[in-house]
Amino acid sequence: MKDVYIYCNWKIYLDDEQSESLLRGILSSLQTLTLPDNTPNINLKLFPSTSSLRSLSKIISNCDLPNKKLKLSMGCQNIHYEKTGAFTGETSIMAIQGYCESILVGHSERRNIFAEKNADLNKKTALILENKLEPVICIGEPENLLKNDSEGYLREQILSSVADIDISHQVVFAYEPTGSIGTGVATSPLEVNLKSKLIKKILKQNIPHLDLSLIKILYGGSVNNENITDYLSASDIDGVLVGSSSVDLQKFQMILDKIITLSPT
Ligand code: PGA
Repeated sequence: MKDVYIYCNWKIYLDDEQSESLLRGILSSLQTLTLPDNTPNINLKLFPSTSSLRSLSKIISNCDLPNKKLKLSMGCQNIHYEKTGAFTGETSIMAIQGYCESILVGHSERRNIFAEKNADLNKKTALILENKLEPVICIGEPENLLKNDSEGYLREQILSSVADIDISHQVVFAYEPTGSIGTGVATSPLEVNLKSKLIKKILKQNIPHLDLSLIKILYGGSVNNENITDYLSASDIDGVLVGSSSVDLQKFQMILDKIITLSPT
C-alpha cells in the first residue's frame, strides 16, 4: 500500500494568528478522524508563512495524533541557497531547520515573480539535502507548452535541479503546470499520471543508479475536495500540493473526509 502525501501551501494568505487558528482547527478535526484499517499512511505537511513556522511547530510537537497512520509535520516555502551571509531579507536554512522537515524549491511563483533560475534552485536542493531535509522541487510547463511537447522543458527543469547532487534522502517533485495554479482549471489526472511516469523516466535515464523509491511525485494546481481522490488513486501520483483549498478550514475538512475514503493502491 503506497503512502499518501498531502502538502499544503498556505503561501502568504494568513497572518500568524490566522495560521494558528487554522492549525488548531485542523488538529481538532484530526483528533476525531476515524481511519479505516485499510487506509494508507497519510503524510500531512503544512507550509505556512515563515514567520509562523516556529510557533506552529511547537503546537504540533505538543500534540499526539490518535492514529499512527497519520503524520503531521511542517515545511518551509523558501530559503536562500547560502547557509549564511549578507543576504538582506532572505531566510537561512539555519533559521528554520529545527521547525520543519521539508522546503519548497522553485515554486512557479518564485520562478515567475522573483525570477529564480534553475542554477540557484540546484544550489538550494543541494543545501537542503546536505542538511538532511526534504526538498520539494516544483516543476511544470507554462500553458502554451502543455498540449505540445513539453518533455524538453521538464527535462531541463528536473535535471538542472538535481545536477551533481548525490540523492541519498527523499526528494519530492511537485508537478504543477502553471496554467492550473490558482485558476480553478486543474490538469486531468490522466495527463498528470503520464507526466509522473515521464518524470521518473527522465530521472532513471539520466541518473541510472538513482533509487526511485526515494522519489515522490505530487501534483499541484487547483486541487480541491472534488478532484483530490482522482489524483491520489492514480498509479504514479504519490500525493498533492494544495494551495487555496488548504487555507479554508471547511474546505480542508472536506478534503480530509475524502482522504479517509481512499482505498489502498
Ligand atoms: P492552488 O495552488 O491549489 O491554489 O492552485 C497550488 C500551488 O500553488 O502550489
